[in-house]
Amino acid sequence: MAPETSTAPTTAPTTTPDAAPGGARSGTAIGIDIGGSGIKGAPVDLATGEFSAERIRIPTPQPSTPDAVSRVVKQIVDQICADLPDGGAGVPVGITFPAVIQHGVARTAANVDKGWVDYDVATLMTAVTGHPVHVVNDADAAGIAEARYGAAKGVRGVVVLATLGTGIGTAVMVDGALLPNTELGHLEVDGHDAETRASDAARERDDLSWSHWAKRLNKYFSSLEALLWPDLIVVGGGVSKKSEKFLPELRLRTPIVPAQLLNSAGIVGAAVLAAEQRR
Ligand code: BGC
Repeated sequence: MAPETSTAPTTAPTTTPDAAPGGARSGTAIGIDIGGSGIKGAPVDLATGEFSAERIRIPTPQPSTPDAVSRVVKQIVDQICADLPDGGAGVPVGITFPAVIQHGVARTAANVDKGWVDYDVATLMTAVTGHPVHVVNDADAAGIAEARYGAAKGVRGVVVLATLGTGIGTAVMVDGALLPNTELGHLEVDGHDAETRASDAARERDDLSWSHWAKRLNKYFSSLEALLWPDLIVVGGGVSKKSEKFLPELRLRTPIVPAQLLNSAGIVGAAVLAAEQRR
């Protein structure tokens, strides 16, 4: 028999200013966000989680091979460093990548060139940029940024961030600490890989109204909450800017809120993690 569950939202998750591990942060690190259409980068002030100079964006080369992408990353890092004290010597660089990243190595390539599978991204980028580099899954970076500076700041318990874009990326955090590479965008829902039905790209591809898409999202998030029982769900990705069009239609037991850092989250989270690796 299925366990009896309540559909009423529980009380808001408790927050505490010191829940996130890592303690006080200061200094600068560079964040680079590798996406399907653009590669973006900026220096991040770690005390505030804000960019300390304007963001640079270069279109992602097609095909997005390791060689072509690493050349663009180097160009962005060099351009940022030109304006940093000491030419940015030794400044840590965090890089997001839209795939499973195990200890710097890409293990999947759902929406990028298949040449990345089993590629040691961290070693390549360290050699090309000449900086200490930390590579992280894109959604994991966004989750850390929201946990440290945004919608999940200080939230105790289990937080799931889901980025709705070309695919669906997820980050799972407990008391602000990340469980990496959860890949819950590929959860099977009604016999389909969830991201092929509920991503923002699926909404556009199938020309769905907001409420039709909200129904698909509701199904997806219901499956997710039945497995993880999160205290809070944060919705990220470009479409979270229009959250008023679909979030109010969702009927979930978990409180669900839009991300706060919007398109800076990947850069900021990658920079934070790169700086923490240096401690
Ligand atoms: C990939 C994830 C990634 C997400 C968002 C999915 O297809 O499997 O690794 O986080 O897309 O880019």
